[in-house]
Amino acid sequence: MNDFAFSTVAHVVSETGAAGRLGQHIQSRFPNVRRALLVTDPGFLKTGLVDAPAASLRSAGLAVEIYSQVVADPPEVVVLEAVGAARAFRADIVIGLGGGSSMDVAKLIAVLADSDQPISGIYGIGNVKGARLPLVQIPTTAGTGSEVTNIAIVTTGATTKMGVVAPQLYADLVLLDAELTIGLPPAVTAATGIDAMVHAIEAYTSKHKKNPLSDILARKALGLLSANLITVCENGRDLAARQAMLLGAMLAGQAFSNAPVAAVHALAYPIGGIFHVPHGLSNSLVLPHVLRFNAPEAAGLYAELAEIVVPAATGSAEARAEALAVAMQQIATVTGIERTLQQVGIVEADLDRLADDAMLQTRLLGNNPRLVTREDARAIYAAAL
Ligand SMILES: NC(=O)c1ccc[n+]([C@@H]2O[C@H](COP(=O)([O-])OP(=O)(O)OC[C@H]3O[C@@H](n4cnc5c(N)ncnc54)[C@H](O)[C@@H]3O)[C@@H](O)[C@H]2O)c1
Ligand SMILES: [Fe+2]
Repeated sequence: MNDFAFSTVAHVVSETGAAGRLGQHIQSRFPNVRRALLVTDPGFLKTGLVDAPAASLRSAGLAVEIYSQVVADPPEVVVLEAVGAARAFRADIVIGLGGGSSMDVAKLIAVLADSDQPISGIYGIGNVKGARLPLVQIPTTAGTGSEVTNIAIVTTGATTKMGVVAPQLYADLVLLDAELTIGLPPAVTAATGIDAMVHAIEAYTSKHKKNPLSDILARKALGLLSANLITVCENGRDLAARQAMLLGAMLAGQAFSNAPVAAVHALAYPIGGIFHVPHGLSNSLVLPHVLRFNAPEAAGLYAELAEIVVPAATGSAEARAEALAVAMQQIATVTGIERTLQQVGIVEADLDRLADDAMLQTRLLGNNPRLVTREDARAIYAAAL
């Protein structure tokens, strides 16, 4: 077995209704904090589900400010504005309450609000200096796993994103509360759920950092996600299934935070960057085609995962790996999300640019079980067209 290291968030509470008791959770873990900044986006604010956690904080004696201007794939200017809001309010604890976008912004606020470092100095791996404000993460999508990752992704140009990777980005506390996710629209539920499944699949086949803890987490995550995804798309109010999705997405996040994702994400990023397709959907569009491309190197591992996602699959490792690809395509079909690049407005003439951009994702491509050349990337996009 290879040597490995594994890190994650120290405290996790998976409990339907936990967000309504946020004040008590914070009081017991951070008795000295007084001024809480809740970070969310306008879409989630509109659901009214911010009210209960905010009220709970107030009844625990904390002053509360809600920053609700996060946008999907947050641009740098939004992060800086949010940091400014935290400073103006003199926040002493930051709470991400939303999808990956809000949680990523919360991480960066916690790091930058009390620091002299400019944001330009923290991009890349291990460049954050010093301590951060206390940080709590409460996901409202079951997707990115950002609540337990040490990564924040910022949109830095018209089509470019940069990542901040640092141990300080691991939160102090995570609450998983299905009540927050009941209003998540079916299409967002499907795409974010597939994103979480991709995290588990790519962690399990990650080339250099695959490790036994990530493997266990990825397998458990895939079991929960594949058993509950269709249910929550068909009946968004099924709290038990919603809680299982949140848990699955978090376990997948713990897995890929230590055994990083690969070509599916590398090829998805340009789709999101250039065409503003949501992260989960971008992944879903290329997923089956990357699985088929990788099969010559990874069929054995995919077959192990097929036993979880499609237990009825039989035959050779290659046959079961193909069954996994088909099962993932079926999830997209049943949930009614887009299945081809053309459906999101991409045409043949765009494929060269997509392939060029995907090749820039060297960090991710290096984790892929099979070497991806530029021609391979273009062929995968062509298959997904
Ligand atoms: N840090 C990481 O580890 C990591 C990993 C993957 C992706 N990301 C980043 O995460 C972001 C994507 O996050 P996401 O897919 O969770 O989506 P998101 O946070 O961008 O939210 C998507 C939409 O869903 C709405 N929404 C969220 N929760 C809702 C709820 N409970 N009810 C109703 N509407 C709700 C929001 O208002 C928003 O319009 C991207 O910026 C991506 O780069 C980060
Ligand atoms: Fe992802």
